[in-house]
Amino acid sequence: MSHARPAAVVVLAAGEGTRMRSATPKVMHRIGGRSLLGHVLATARELDPASLAVVVRHERDLVAAHALELDSDVVIADQDEIKGTGRAAWCALRALEEAEALDGVVLVLAGDVPLLTAATLSDLLTAHAEAGNVVTVLTTHVDDPTGYGRIVRDGASGAVVRIVEHRDADAPERAITEINTSVYAFDAAVLRAGLEWLQEPGARSNAQGEVYLTDVVAFARSHGGVGAHAITDSMQVEGVNDRVQLAALGAVLNRRILEAAMRAGVTVVDPASTWVEVGVTLAGDVTLLPGTFLEGTTAIASGAVVGPDTTLRDVTVGEGARIVRSHLESARVEAGASVGPFTHLRVGSVVGPGAAIGAFAEMKNAELGPGAKVPHLSYVGDGVVGAGANVGAGVITANYDGVHKTRTQIGAGAFIGSNSTLVAPVTIGDGAFVAAGSTVTRDVEPGDLVVERAQHRTVAGWVLRRLPGTRWAKAAQAAIDERESAPSPTDEGTQA
Ligand code: UD1
Ligand code: MG
Repeated sequence: MSHARPAAVVVLAAGEGTRMRSATPKVMHRIGGRSLLGHVLATARELDPASLAVVVRHERDLVAAHALELDSDVVIADQDEIKGTGRAAWCALRALEEAEALDGVVLVLAGDVPLLTAATLSDLLTAHAEAGNVVTVLTTHVDDPTGYGRIVRDGASGAVVRIVEHRDADAPERAITEINTSVYAFDAAVLRAGLEWLQEPGARSNAQGEVYLTDVVAFARSHGGVGAHAITDSMQVEGVNDRVQLAALGAVLNRRILEAAMRAGVTVVDPASTWVEVGVTLAGDVTLLPGTFLEGTTAIASGAVVGPDTTLRDVTVGEGARIVRSHLESARVEAGASVGPFTHLRVGSVVGPGAAIGAFAEMKNAELGPGAKVPHLSYVGDGVVGAGANVGAGVITANYDGVHKTRTQIGAGAFIGSNSTLVAPVTIGDGAFVAAGSTVTRDVEPGDLVVERAQHRTVAGWVLRRLPGTRWAKAAQAAIDERESAPSPTDEGTQA
């Protein structure tokens, strides 16, 4: 960076955001797994400012608490009842300069512009420093500038003269396509002087009667150089005003995350149906199949294949693991393990190296040891399945007695027959067998077989005796008749 550390970054977030039509403050709406304000604060922090302020007013308590949760070092600046971006910036300076005056560059950002990158801001600061300006406005050219403030330049020199808001602009000014992005680098002293001057009611002459930060630009011309730094990537400075723009910018952000991942060696089969949040880490040679959603702090190691139709939230996936059509939260899937299709892994689930959990199985706070298998229709909660153990179809760990949750331990190499219920707390020893259909309520020693079910009982001829003439009796009789008329094995031999 060829610029000094900014003295402060000021994030304007006091506006109402009426067009969102939402009970949630605009800057708290989310894209890419982060609130709009979260994106802006994270970018601001990358510039390492000496101080960082957020201006709040609408839903003040919610937004202030949210800002402090995101970054406990932010200064919350309250805007009073006087409206406008210039009032917001003035309130921020007052809050920041309570102890001592700022000296250096103050960067102003809007809380509803989430895609701006630290690299762009760094370029703005460099341009500002190299030109020796007192104000540098970040601008861009757009096809339809309706609604934006226009950058008015001197016809002869091309110097920035002022910014005029759309509603205050005349026809020639409205034809200008270079717009104010609401991102600026200011010399702190000039910003302070300009804002002080603007607070005089006589200094405001705009259609809305608000205090416009944009008016500091014209003011600053008598104090030093005023310039613009134009960028071509307009999406970076696009603001969110309604939910249509929220979705549009969410899609752009996702596309950018996916493109960075693809350039780094991740295969994304269908970017249109794949959503990856900003906090996700993907190694090279990961493959994401269509309909994959990666959220939170999910991290995937190389060679893993995820999807189709899979959601991973805060999940760690090891090398070469495979996850198919499943929903996982706060879980860990080790190298070479296999999950799905149709598996639900809840908080605290660990699928060990080379282990497998299959269709319609659910796990919570439980661990499968290396190579353990839970292939079908099971619930494993609060327990451990030892290395190489096999858990048959429909096995349930009954971990909840209505009051307490207790643990089930299945030993290494144990074999749990289909449709068994293991009533916790219970331990099945290493290499032990549980017969299918058992309800196990007591511990099983290593190598023992447990059969906990009623004795098998057959009542011969019951249907013909008790239900004569019914369709069941007819079916049984036909089978008996057929068996009796069938040639005996010796007859078969002579026929051949
Ligand atoms: C502003 C600029 C305009 C620019 C546009 C870019 C002014 C006068 N106009 O217009 O030149 O092209 O942004 O998007 O600055 N805010 C406060 N307190 C307020 C009012 C607004 O903190 O009293 C905050 C908002 O929360 C928002 C930002 O300032 O984050 C911009 O406010 P907004 O009302 O969206 O300004 P625009 O009319 O879009
Ligand atoms: Mg706006």
